[in-house]
Formats: sequence, C-alpha cells, structure tokens
Amino acid sequence: MPSFKAAILGFGTVGEGVYRILQEKREEIRENTGFTVDVVTILVKDKTKKRKPISGVKITDNIRDILDDPEIDVVFEAIVGEEPAYTYLSDAIEKGCHIITANKKMFAKHGPALLKHAEFRNVQVGFEATTAGGVPVIRTVSNLLAGDRIKRIQGILNGTSNFILTKMREEGSPFKKALLDAQKNGFAEADPSDDVDGTDAFRKLMILSSLSFGQQPDWEDVPVVGIEHIQPIDVIDASKGDLRYRHVADIWIDDNDKLLGTVGPVLIGANHPLFSIDGVDNAIIIETEYLGQLTLVGPGAGMYPTGSAMVADLLHIIRQQEVVMVTN
Ligand code: NDP
Ligand code: HSE
Repeated sequence: MPSFKAAILGFGTVGEGVYRILQEKREEIRENTGFTVDVVTILVKDKTKKRKPISGVKITDNIRDILDDPEIDVVFEAIVGEEPAYTYLSDAIEKGCHIITANKKMFAKHGPALLKHAEFRNVQVGFEATTAGGVPVIRTVSNLLAGDRIKRIQGILNGTSNFILTKMREEGSPFKKALLDAQKNGFAEADPSDDVDGTDAFRKLMILSSLSFGQQPDWEDVPVVGIEHIQPIDVIDASKGDLRYRHVADIWIDDNDKLLGTVGPVLIGANHPLFSIDGVDNAIIIETEYLGQLTLVGPGAGMYPTGSAMVADLLHIIRQQEVVMVTN
C-alpha cells in the first residue's frame, strides 16, 4: 500500500486540527485514495510544554529532524510569523517535499516565491487555509481562472472581527469580552491586534490578489482600517436603522486596468450579500466576466474548519500523485 509520510510544523489550534482529522479519517482516506497518511514528526517551539502524549509520533523542537528525514513526503505548516516559517518551507521544497500552509502572514509576502520554487522542484503547494479558514476560496478562484476572468473580490476575511461585531450586536458584549471569547475559541491570532486592526484581512486580500490578478497592489496604497474603535452602541444604533457593520476587504480592477484595494468597516443594508453573515463565518463575493457573481460562505477560523482545508489540500496532492502513477 503506497503511503504518504507527513510532518506538521506547529501543534496549536491548527496543527492539532490537521493531526486529529488525519487520525479520524485515516481509513476513509485509504479507501478513497489508496494511500495511507502517517504523521511521523511534529515540530513545536517549546518541547517542555505539557501535552497529551501522541503514540508513534516524534515531537521535536529541531527542524533538522524533519528536513534531514528522507522519508517525509509532505510538510504541513501551522506556526506563527514570517520566519522561521518561510525558511523552513523553502528548505522543505528544496528537499523535494510538498508543502501545505495556513500561515497567511508568511504567505502574503513569500507565497509567489514559494510557488515559483515549488514549480522548479516539481512539488505542490497547498495554501487553502491561508484565506477564509474552511471556505474553499483558493480552489474556487483557481478553477474559475481556467476559463474566466476575475474582476472583483469583496468579502469578510477575518472571523475574529466578524465574531466580535456579531457579539456586540446580538448580546451588547463589550469589545474586550467579545475578543476574549474569540481567543478562547481558537479563532484569534497569537497577536490579536492583527485581527482587529485589519492587518490579517489585508494579508488574505493580498493572497487573493496574487492568485486572481497575478499581482498585488503596492501595500502602502491599500487603506487598512480595523474594528477596534467600534463600540457596541455604534453597532446597536446601526441595527436599529436596519444597517450592519461588516469588516470588508475589497479588491478590483478599475476602468484604467489599475488594481485597487481597501480594507475596513462598512455599514451595509439588508439587500447586501454580506448583511446576514454572522459569527466566525467569512463570506467572499467573486465577480467574474462570464459567471457573474458568486458568494462563498463558511467558517473562517477554528481548529476543524482550518484543519479540514489543509487536509483537502493533501487529498488534492495525493490525487495528482495517482494521475502521475497511472500515466507512468
Ligand atoms: P497557535 O498559537 O495555537 O499554535 C502555534 C503552534 O506553533 C504552537 O504549537 C507553537 O509551539 C508552534 N510554533 C510557534 N512558533 C514556532 C517556531 N518558531 N518554531 C516551532 N514551532 C513554533 O496558533 P494557531 O494554530 O492558531 O495558528 C497557526 C498558524 O495558522 C498561524 O500562522 C495562523 O495565522 C494560521 N491560521 C490560524 C487559524 C485559526 O483559526 N487559529 C486559521 C487559519 C490560519 P508551542 O506549542 O511549543 O508553543
Ligand atoms: N485569526 C484569523 C481569523 C484566523 O479570525 O480570521 C483565520 O485565518
């Protein structure tokens, strides 16, 4: 039985989600693809941290245990920050591993370089989980690009912000309490200021921009505003007038073929597709030349939605291996 040996970088909310899904779905994956997937090594920052024991898996704080292991076929990355994530993934590609990442901070900046490097080394890059958690927006845009042209992408790309705005409107929760709830649920970033000041949504917008338009605007040209100055009273007052605050990231090509983007809170009315998107959900409206308008909605953060996006990337890679095996 052919097998895939996997390493996971990071064993927090997302890394653990990937591990659990691979364990729970092991038999189904084997039946559906003909491949077994074995997680052999997990990288963490602090090896002394108390964790539930995981049988048959090496827990290490030394990346060489992964990069020097000739058996590893795929590296899942769910650590925090640009570095050392970028260096670890570049090295993994160089060694001939497929990589699957959830790290948008790293990927917004280094994604194009990683994709180029991977093409050169003939390995795959999965990055579905970098944008909108469990919503398959990367796969959808990639599929659309095969025969259509993206004109505009507009959406709610940060689950934590949407969760906070919803808690304020529905329960009158103070900002700090709502943010704490989002952190307890594993939705927020290690530094939650990235969630509430708009930076996280901006990074995801840049990933979508590279994919959809083959380029990113100059980062300084995109105004980015967060939700940190919005109070429950603002949200409740707006809802009395049938309006809702949504944190919206928007990118489009204007009539002069210039790429423009904005990120910030917007008051929207009941007819808008983003009006009813509540809690940790994200929603992405994709406008194309031929299809018209399509809206994707689903959980934008959390252990299982994000883990499931990364496992879906793996299955996609495995299916391509099957094609290679058949055509050879
Ligand atoms: P957590 O803080 O829960 O977990 C981070 C994990 O990475 C921990 O296991 C930590 O080790 C490990 N780690 C951090 N830095 C290093 C390092 N330098 N070397 C080795 N290991 C390291 O984060 P999340 O799981 O929430 O997020 C992980 C990544 O996924 C982030 O990039 C985030 O932006 C992204 N993401 C998160 C989502 C979510 O819903 N939470 C959704 C989509 C993407 P230790 O356990 O020892 O501290
Ligand atoms: N902190 C992010 C969010 C996680 O709340 O959307 C998913 O990328």
